[in-house]
Amino acid sequence: MKIDAKYMGLTLKSPVVVGACDMSLNPQALKRIEEYGAGAIVFKSIFEESIQLESMQLKKLLESEQERAGKIAKWYSKIMTSGNDQILKDLRCAREAVSIPLIASLNAYSEASWIHYVRVLEEYGIDGFEINFYHTPEDIDISGQEMEDREIGIIKQIVALTELPVSVKMTRCYTNPLYTVKRFMEAGAKGVILFNQFIDSDIDIETEANLETFELTQDGAYRESLRFTALLHGQVEGSIIANTGIYEAEDAIKLLLAGADAVQVVSTLYLNQTAQIQRILKGIEEWMERKGYETLDDFRGKCAKKNAMDPYAFERAQYVKIMLEEKNL
Ligand SMILES: Cc1cc2nc3c(=O)[nH]c(=O)nc-3n(C[C@H](O)[C@H](O)[C@H](O)COP(=O)(O)O)c2cc1C
Repeated sequence: MKIDAKYMGLTLKSPVVVGACDMSLNPQALKRIEEYGAGAIVFKSIFEESIQLESMQLKKLLESEQERAGKIAKWYSKIMTSGNDQILKDLRCAREAVSIPLIASLNAYSEASWIHYVRVLEEYGIDGFEINFYHTPEDIDISGQEMEDREIGIIKQIVALTELPVSVKMTRCYTNPLYTVKRFMEAGAKGVILFNQFIDSDIDIETEANLETFELTQDGAYRESLRFTALLHGQVEGSIIANTGIYEAEDAIKLLLAGADAVQVVSTLYLNQTAQIQRILKGIEEWMERKGYETLDDFRGKCAKKNAMDPYAFERAQYVKIMLEEKNL
């Protein structure tokens, strides 16, 4: 039985990829991740704000961008405080620690300051790029089209600078994410990751202070990724990589059945430790054996929209049917 997977043109030994997170800063954890059979690792994001900080340009940023930098700093504090020199040192250690593909993640927002980092990162022996788009709508005067065009511009610039494959970790904030994926791939992206995890806003009613909350995702939070994976399968050339709330082998199998080329996992490793990768892979193999499948291609996309037994499973008709049904809840 073979479980090798295609990931933006790279061949991975397994379809389980460790998504960008702080574990990539720990070479011992990375070694275990490789031993447990992960197909690839996405290295912690390099942030545009941090690049600007480094080059002393942050003071020139608009107020709104400073706020944004502050917001993100809470989540990604290590990068903001340590700067990119430290991140690059960590990246070198990561490259030395593992031989599976290592993907660099760039959190790009505007088109200027980080561009030279594409070349710098290439020197570190990485195997590809993931552009981490984290654009929440925050300006009433910018249309969705404008925001999307800006992202397309960023993809084109990075693709023009490197021979390495480029993927895009996208947010859910598009009117039609399917069309956006098509445009991203036309711009040169070799894969998309569905979806980026937002930092939520909240308010403390005693202190009347604004809060930003970030929690690990919940087991089962993969359903939106599953839906869009199933809708996209067979309609685009590039890789579809599903993430968010993929905890167990069963979850990964569902996403592969929906048409994902690979899955990314993070929260389950924090909760169940890195050995969870091995358990997920074992579960996939046992299921494949029980079903008589030899390769991932034997069943990938079997439950995608274009192959689904219920052709309306991902459409409005399903919604109407469920709403009109009498449910004994
Ligand atoms: C501690 C931590 C750090 C993270 N850092 C990054 C990051 O640097 N870049 C990024 O794109 N996503 C980052 N993420 C988000 C994850 O890559 C992933 O998208 C999110 O956790 C959802 O996947 P999951 O349900 O498997 O956890 C981070 C997540 C955690 C828990």
